[in-house]
Amino acid sequence: MAIWNLGSINADMVYAMPHLPAAGETLAARSLDRFLGGKGANMSVAATRAGSSVNHIGAVGPDGEWAVERLKAYGVGTSHIVQAVTPTGHAIIAVEPEGENQIILFPGANRALSQDQVDRALSQASAGDILVMQNETSMQAEAARLGRQKGLRVCYAAAPFNADAVQAVLPYLDFLILNEIEAQQLAQATGKQPGELGIKDVIITLGAKGARHIDGDTGAVSDVPALPVTPVDTTGAGDTFTGYVLSGLDLGLTVAEAMEQASRAGALMVTRRGTADVIPDLKEVQAARF
Ligand code: RIB
Repeated sequence: MAIWNLGSINADMVYAMPHLPAAGETLAARSLDRFLGGKGANMSVAATRAGSSVNHIGAVGPDGEWAVERLKAYGVGTSHIVQAVTPTGHAIIAVEPEGENQIILFPGANRALSQDQVDRALSQASAGDILVMQNETSMQAEAARLGRQKGLRVCYAAAPFNADAVQAVLPYLDFLILNEIEAQQLAQATGKQPGELGIKDVIITLGAKGARHIDGDTGAVSDVPALPVTPVDTTGAGDTFTGYVLSGLDLGLTVAEAMEQASRAGALMVTRRGTADVIPDLKEVQAARF
């Protein structure tokens, strides 16, 4: 099967900081590195490195050819990435020594996707393929609706979290991933617990405690523990986890097996500085000792 990812593409400017800047503070960075990023691009690279065939549906600006070329070099299908007149999205990312971050996002071309583009891309998808979205592009609900109509397995990574954005895609979802606080916010907005949303699979990431799967059909709950690592940069680790989970499902693993493998990939990722360019491949993930 294949994975179709309606996803953001950003230039990530990553600044190593002595601490995260406070309001009104001027603070010199210790270094600056540039990476390919965007939650969408990170997930496409992660799922490709995990072994899946991934088609990215996205947009860059006239300045974004490098990003398309890099995705292509990493094995991601790029024939449904268009060039918009708006500049390519970018992220200004501050990372402090313990690995925590702060991100300023300029959406740019990521908000320039059109219905026509989504229709054309998904006309090539087959029933049973996975469609994933995050909350950094336009056309999320439209793509989710079409994906459901076509019999795709519709997945949503609720990041950056916005309760309205999740509710717009909720009726079409087979799979939802979000963190613990976001799950509480969504429960407040909908009046329903994650297992009551009518979604087959919900994964709640629990930070240092690991991740939880809730089977929406049976109500069964199972946890995967986090692995012990010393983080240097947590940026993109959640995207790596999600990309690996989706690839695992795509390649026929059980949810538990996919989460276990994804947990290893996410743990390895937090020991690396950077985003899409440093996502580990399956061999590295399998060989890693924690
Ligand atoms: O999740 C990390 C990502 O968030 C970065 O790559 C940045 O581009 C933003 O989209």
